[in-house]
Amino acid sequence: MLFRLIHLPCRKAALLWLLLGLMSPVLVSQEPQALSPKDPAMRRFVDDLLEKMTLDEKIGQMSQVAYQEPHTVSHEERIRKEQAGSFLFVKDPAEINRLQHIAVDETRLHIPLLFGFDVVHGFRTIYPVPLAMASSWDPSLVEHAQYMAAREASSVGIRWAFAPMVDIARDARWGRIMEGSGEDPFLGSRMAEAQVRGFQGTIGAPDRILACVKHFAGYGAAAGGRDYDQSDLSDEQLWNVYFPPFRAAQAAGAATFMAAYMDLNGVPASGNRYLLHDVLRTDWGFQGFVVSDWETVPNLVTHGFASTPADAAARAANAGVDMEMTSSLYRDFLAEDIKHGSVTQQTIDNAVRSILEAKYKLGLFTNPYATPGLAAKELVSADQRHAARIAAQRSSVLLRNESNILPLKKSMRNLAVIGPLADSKPDTMGSWSLAGKYDDTVTVLSGIRAKAGSSVEVRYAKGVEVERGNASIFDPQFASPPPTLVTGAQREESFKEAIDLVRSSDLTVLVLGELQSMSGERASRATLNLPGEQENLLEAAEATGKPIVLVLINGRPLDITWASQHIPGILEAWYPGTEGGNAVADLLFGDAVPGGKLPVSWPRTAGQEPLYYNHTLSQIPVDRDAMYWDESSAPLYPFGYGLSYASISIHDLKLSSTNLRAAGAIEATVTLHNPSNVDGDQTVELYTHQRAGSASRPVRELKGFERVHLKAGEQRSVTITLHADDLKFWSPATRQTELDPGIFDLWVGDSSAATEHATFAVLP
Ligand code: BGC
Repeated sequence: MLFRLIHLPCRKAALLWLLLGLMSPVLVSQEPQALSPKDPAMRRFVDDLLEKMTLDEKIGQMSQVAYQEPHTVSHEERIRKEQAGSFLFVKDPAEINRLQHIAVDETRLHIPLLFGFDVVHGFRTIYPVPLAMASSWDPSLVEHAQYMAAREASSVGIRWAFAPMVDIARDARWGRIMEGSGEDPFLGSRMAEAQVRGFQGTIGAPDRILACVKHFAGYGAAAGGRDYDQSDLSDEQLWNVYFPPFRAAQAAGAATFMAAYMDLNGVPASGNRYLLHDVLRTDWGFQGFVVSDWETVPNLVTHGFASTPADAAARAANAGVDMEMTSSLYRDFLAEDIKHGSVTQQTIDNAVRSILEAKYKLGLFTNPYATPGLAAKELVSADQRHAARIAAQRSSVLLRNESNILPLKKSMRNLAVIGPLADSKPDTMGSWSLAGKYDDTVTVLSGIRAKAGSSVEVRYAKGVEVERGNASIFDPQFASPPPTLVTGAQREESFKEAIDLVRSSDLTVLVLGELQSMSGERASRATLNLPGEQENLLEAAEATGKPIVLVLINGRPLDITWASQHIPGILEAWYPGTEGGNAVADLLFGDAVPGGKLPVSWPRTAGQEPLYYNHTLSQIPVDRDAMYWDESSAPLYPFGYGLSYASISIHDLKLSSTNLRAAGAIEATVTLHNPSNVDGDQTVELYTHQRAGSASRPVRELKGFERVHLKAGEQRSVTITLHADDLKFWSPATRQTELDPGIFDLWVGDSSAATEHATFAVLP
C-alpha cells in the first residue's frame, strides 16, 4: 500500500527515512481521510520529529521565504541549512520539485517544504473575483470553483492557498472589497466555508490544498477605507459582524489562518494575542497554524508597538504567529529571544508542531512532489474554462433593464463595442491573477465577436484611455501599459471616433469600469466615480439618442447614479476572469440569464460610505433615507438586489410555526412564479429583525437564502429553514452569545427590501 501511494521520485526519500530509523511514522497510509488533530499516528510522527530537531531547525520551519524577493543567501543554501519551512510565489512545477528534492534529499531531517501562493480566484484559469463569486449567492458554485483552482495549483506542486479572504467590507472605497464576499456576515460565512471545502476537500487528497483564512481580523474596517489604516471595532461589531466568516471557515476545518496588517483597537493584529490565541485557539478551538502577513512581524516596530526587531519576533511568536512570511526576524532573533527568556521553548514547539501536522495531513511526507506532466493536462483545460465561464455567468448582476433592452437581438445589423475595458485582458482578469496569462483571456470584445459570428457586424473603438497615476502593483505583467493617447488632439480624435461609431450603429455596448490595478490591495479610492473620461464618454454616447448598454468591469460598487437614470441596460460583470468575455456575451445575447445579486449595498456617492443594510434603528426612523440634506442616504441599489430576464415573483409567505424554541427551527415557505417566457433564477432571501432584547439589533439581517431555477411559466414553493441558533448574537449587555426571547419580524423576498412579512416569537 505504501509504495503504491508513494510516487517514484519519493522512494529515495522514503528509503532514507528507513535507514534513519524514522520510518514507522512515515508508513502511515496517507489515503485521503479526515485526520483529527489528535490522530495518534500523526501525533507520534510529529513528536518523534520534534524530539530530533535542533532549535535552529525548528525556527527554520517557522520561516517562509518569498521566492522572488532579493536574497543574500541562495534559496538552495537556505533549504540545505533547514532555514525554510515554506516558500511563496514559486509556480513552476520543475522548480518546485527541484527545491523540494533539496529539502527532502539533502537535509538531515528530510522535512518537505510547503509551497504557498495567492490562489485567490483561480490559479492559471482565472475565475471571477471573490466579490463576484459572492454575487452568485451559490455556495456550491463557489466551492467548485475553489476545487478547480486547487486542482490547477496542486498540479504544479502548490499545496497552500492564501485564501479565502473573508474580511467583511462595508466601505466601497477600500480596494480589497473586491477580494471578499461583501458586507454581510451570513452570506460571508456561507462563502467562507464553501471556499474552505473547495480548497481542502479531504485534506491529503492530491488535488486539494490547504486554505488560509485571512486577514484575521477586522482589516475590512480600515478607517476611511484606506488600505492598512487602523480598525477600531467594538466587541459587538467584532463578534457579530467581522468574526462570523472567520468562525465559519474555522468550523469548516480551515487548516491555516493569516494575521492581518493593521492595528485592531490599538494592537497590531500580528502581535494581538487576544485575536490569535484567546479567540482563535481558546474560544474556537483552532488547531492549525497561523502565518503572518507580508512582513507584518517587522512591522510591529513600524507600528510603534515593538521596540526592536528582536522584540517584534518575540511579540509575534507569543501572540500566536507560528510562521513568518517573507521577513527573517524569526530566523534572526528567536534563538536570542529564547536565551533571554522572552520566548519559551514551548511556544516554539507549539508553533512547529502545528506546521508539521499540516504538512503531515497534506501527505507531504509521503508525496512531496508535483506529478510530472500533470500541469500540462490541468492548466486552462476545457473543464477549467467551462467552469470559469459558468462562474462568470452566474456572478454577473443585472442592475437595470428598461424596456427589455436586454437580451440583445441577434438580428441586429451592427453593434458597437466601446470603452477602455472592452478589449483589455489584464483588466478582464482583475487583481490577484498572478499565475493567469493574458493569452488565455477572452475579453468582452472577443466574446461578443465570437458570439455574433458573421450575422452581426461588430465594430470597436476604445474612446478614452484610463490610467492609474500612482500605480503600485505587485506583478510587473500588470503594470498599466503606457498611454497611447498622449496629446490632447489624439484624445479628442479617439473620443470623436467612438461617438461617431455609436451614431452609426444599431446599438452600443459600452464597457467601462476600473483597471485591475484600481481595485485590490493598495487600491483604495477617495471617490467612486468612473475613472478618467469614462463618464463623459458615457454621457456623450447617450446624447446621440442611440440605444446603449453599459457593462461594468470593476472590483467595487461605483458611482453610476447618472447611468442608473439614463442608460437602459446595465450589467455588472465585476472582473469576470479568463472566460469573462464569453460569459458576458452569453448574458448579453440571452444564451445565459443573469441571476446574480449584490453582496454589497450600492452607494450613490462615496460620501455615503460606509454603507450597509444591517444598521440599527435610530431616532426618527422614518427619515432613514434623508439623513443628509444634500443626498439621499438610501443606497442606489439595496443589498441582495439583482434582476433577471425572467420575472420571478415571490409571494404567499407561510411559517411552519409562529413560535421558536432554543435549538429549534421554523420553516418559511414562499411560492415562486415565473410568468415570463424565459427560464431563469431567483434567489429567495430571508431576513429577520429582533424587536427588543438585551441589545438593539439591526433593522434586518440575512438569515437564509437559496438560489433556485424556474422554467418559463413554472410555479413552485421554496422552503427556507430558520434555525434558532442563527438568531443568536453576541450581546454587549452580557458579553456573551445570547438568544433573546421575544417577537421577531421576518421578511422573504428578492433583496434586502423584501416585503413578504410575518412575525414569530422566540420562546424563553
Ligand atoms: C497580502 C496577503 C497576501 C500576501 C502574499 C500581502 O500583501 O495582504 O493577502 O496573501 O501579501 O501575497
